[in-house]
Amino acid sequence: MSPADAAGGEPPAAGQGPAGSGPAGPGAGQSAGQGTGETGTSQWYRHFGTIDAPGHSACYAEWSVGIADDPDLLRRIDQWPHNKRQPLLMLAAARFLGAQISPYPDFRAFLDARWADVSRIVLTRATQTNEAGRCATLLPSLAQIAAASGRPLALLEVGASAGLNLFPDRYGYEYDAAPGVTRLGPAGAAPGSYPVLGCAVTGPVPLPTALPPVAWRAGIDLNPLDVRNPDDVAWLEALIWPEQDFRRERLRRAIAVARADPPLLVAGDLNDRLVALAAQAPSDATLVVFHSAVLAYLDAEARGRFRAAMARLAVDTGCHWLSNEGHTVILQADGSSVVPEMDDARLRGRFLLLHNGKPVAITGPHGQSLEWL
Ligand SMILES: C[S@@+](CC[C@H](N)C(=O)[O-])C[C@H]1O[C@@H](n2cnc3c(N)ncnc32)[C@H](O)[C@@H]1O
Repeated sequence: MSPADAAGGEPPAAGQGPAGSGPAGPGAGQSAGQGTGETGTSQWYRHFGTIDAPGHSACYAEWSVGIADDPDLLRRIDQWPHNKRQPLLMLAAARFLGAQISPYPDFRAFLDARWADVSRIVLTRATQTNEAGRCATLLPSLAQIAAASGRPLALLEVGASAGLNLFPDRYGYEYDAAPGVTRLGPAGAAPGSYPVLGCAVTGPVPLPTALPPVAWRAGIDLNPLDVRNPDDVAWLEALIWPEQDFRRERLRRAIAVARADPPLLVAGDLNDRLVALAAQAPSDATLVVFHSAVLAYLDAEARGRFRAAMARLAVDTGCHWLSNEGHTVILQADGSSVVPEMDDARLRGRFLLLHNGKPVAITGPHGQSLEWL
């Protein structure tokens, strides 16, 4: 699995991740182009095109390598702020504007014709991929928590994007534990009206027999996306890599579910908004704070503050905490590991699911697999 895919095509933490898609880029932690004659941006696109994209998008691989070898385009990209030069953001902006799968020369002509618009989108948007498939890897823990408490759940997602992961009770699931498949779905909903999330499971996964009840759902995001806003929906679609039609279909169905009952989404930094939003959860429900593919956007100091805030919130409210993140975020500011009992070499591009700080599973970054520990 590619590093970019490991974070859902999202940026790794500044200064920590691979050059692939991160805002830190190859300049973080190494000299850009050192010894190769390439600029940092060129290296960044070459890495994305040769390491991250192959196997997931032949088109992005070709375009990205084409850009890496295109000094005129690199010069234009270098006029953007550093964190805006990331390949995924630029490619998604072009897709948002209608760039179709095509050979690089055609893509280059598209960029020439629409460069002012590409710049505008890059400068005003961010990578905010919202992957409803991740609900498949969160559901067993959510069901365990609901069953143990005997109460419905109050879900609070930090870094929620459009909030599509706030509807685990409204999606269908197919857990493939070869040779058997466990199917679950929302009672009374018409088949075809919700996404069915496939997930290959290994180990003693506590597969639920029913979906847990959810009494309240809310999220925090620096820039919440609105499932009722056609531009935001188009941006979410543009963030899915060109050949991944099954993910686009899943996204559309999840958006239809969310549109029927949009969640409460609060704009702001998760460290600033967490406590006040948690206080709004109904007292007769069990609060679960969760996040996936988010902490990589925070530096180690901000992640440390978030962990401390979660520890206090757990004491004050008895809430549960589910963290589903890639390996770069288990490091603390001093370089030590948050979960020293877990060998992060086992992740190999997957996420680690922690329940109240304890590792419970290794998960596919888009929810495609769940290995219970
Ligand atoms: C890759 S998306 C993941 C969205 C969702 N959690 C999922 O798994 O599909 C990361 C989201 O985190 C948000 N984010 C990043 N840093 C944040 C911060 N400090 N406070 C709140 N949201 C943040 C971004 O705006 C983005 O929408």
